[in-house]
Amino acid sequence: MSATLHTATATATAACGAPRDEPLPVLGRDVTVPLVTGGETGYAALDYAASAPALQRVWDDVAAYAPYYGSVHRGAGYLSQLSTDLFEQSRAAVAAFLDCRPTDQVVFTRSTTDSLNLLAAALPAGCRVFVFETEHHASLLPWGDEQVTYLNAPRTPAEAVATLERALADRDRHGPALVCVTGASNVTGELWPVRELAAAAHAHGARIVLDAAQLAPHHPVSVRDLDVDWVAFSGHKLYAPFGSGVLAGRADWLREARPYLAGGGASRTVARREDGGVDVEWHTTAARHEAGSPNVIGAYAIASACRALTEAGFDALVARERRLVARIREGLAAVPEVRVLSLFGDDAPRVGVISFVVEGWNSSHFAAALSAEYGIGVRDGLFCAHPLVRTLLGSAPQEPGACDAPEARQPGERSLNAIRVSFGAGTPDEHVERFLRAVRELVTDGAKWQYRTEAGRCVPAV
Ligand SMILES: Cc1ncc(COP(=O)(O)O)c(C=O)c1O
Repeated sequence: MSATLHTATATATAACGAPRDEPLPVLGRDVTVPLVTGGETGYAALDYAASAPALQRVWDDVAAYAPYYGSVHRGAGYLSQLSTDLFEQSRAAVAAFLDCRPTDQVVFTRSTTDSLNLLAAALPAGCRVFVFETEHHASLLPWGDEQVTYLNAPRTPAEAVATLERALADRDRHGPALVCVTGASNVTGELWPVRELAAAAHAHGARIVLDAAQLAPHHPVSVRDLDVDWVAFSGHKLYAPFGSGVLAGRADWLREARPYLAGGGASRTVARREDGGVDVEWHTTAARHEAGSPNVIGAYAIASACRALTEAGFDALVARERRLVARIREGLAAVPEVRVLSLFGDDAPRVGVISFVVEGWNSSHFAAALSAEYGIGVRDGLFCAHPLVRTLLGSAPQEPGACDAPEARQPGERSLNAIRVSFGAGTPDEHVERFLRAVRELVTDGAKWQYRTEAGRCVPAV
């Protein structure tokens, strides 16, 4: 049986055909939030790097599918067969989106973190892992202490490649090795030289996994073109917040590994042995690592997002986002008290993720004022990339305080945390302009309200 639901739904909703240089329709665009100073304003979601709003198209596709939802892989009923078909079609849609090789496997996981932990659990014995200290904790932490080599933060893309080459040249070439690298930084938004790093890895007999959590929502990712061995990304950052993620790439290490989760769905047959134990024949397909009932809606939502972004056209999306990035960087550069964090310098290509500090301000206080007084949602902190943010801030490992003493950051004193503004395909120009106006007004006039610390967060005093 072949399911045709997607085609029917996509035609019916066709919400992604946005004109060029217009945001794609996302949920929440009409939501208003209260301001401490009185009244309400439309919510400006500028925290896409954490979680992006759902594309309207994804929501519509999921709503159209929901009545047809059924158990996958084992049900005999019509809806079970339809759901199974859609689940497997979703895998194919992700493979097409990532331009995978025909022999690659697409495993549905819960998130990027889950995908990288899955891969870490599937590494062959003796595998060495190389990872830059600048990575998100999801890429930094899944590996065993005894197998991982942390590489120092490079200050240019060329230095990144040279650092990796040196580290790989020093290792014993006979054992397996894996390099884990981000495509776009969740702190600076800067693009990493993935193709060059992949070439360096392969030249030294290593494999490479791309953490595309921040790249895939902003930029086309081609497994073939970048020549990476695996790619990991999360649905909730790709406008599909239904609890699914992806690990796609080479089948061999995954096929040979013990299943990530043991249970039904991963096993083909199970039989009692005479000695009282059980013999298990595990699947050798992606199902090997998808034990338990899979998140069919999550997978379907990711596939819908992949189609929507492809149909909208990445050229137009990238061009529009570049314009917004340039506008925010230019607006922030005009405020002398603002320092934008960067590893690779002003000219580095980047996606819509920008972190900064404001002279004399505690970042938590600044972010709280953006929310309470302007209805703007950004993020403050160390963004699950503590070593990188501390390197960029030049600060020692120390807990940033909340806003007990917002004035405590004296001119010249180092900030302990940063503010991150991030945006994407659904961001209207008005959000960007409101953000820049808010930054200027807060720096010039100060906050209009009193703030205090509650449960470690900076919140309006009343
Ligand atoms: C670069 C990067 N990698 C991995 C992750 C982890 O993603 P998730 O929380 O969806 O597992 C994030 C999340 O912010 C990220 O920015």
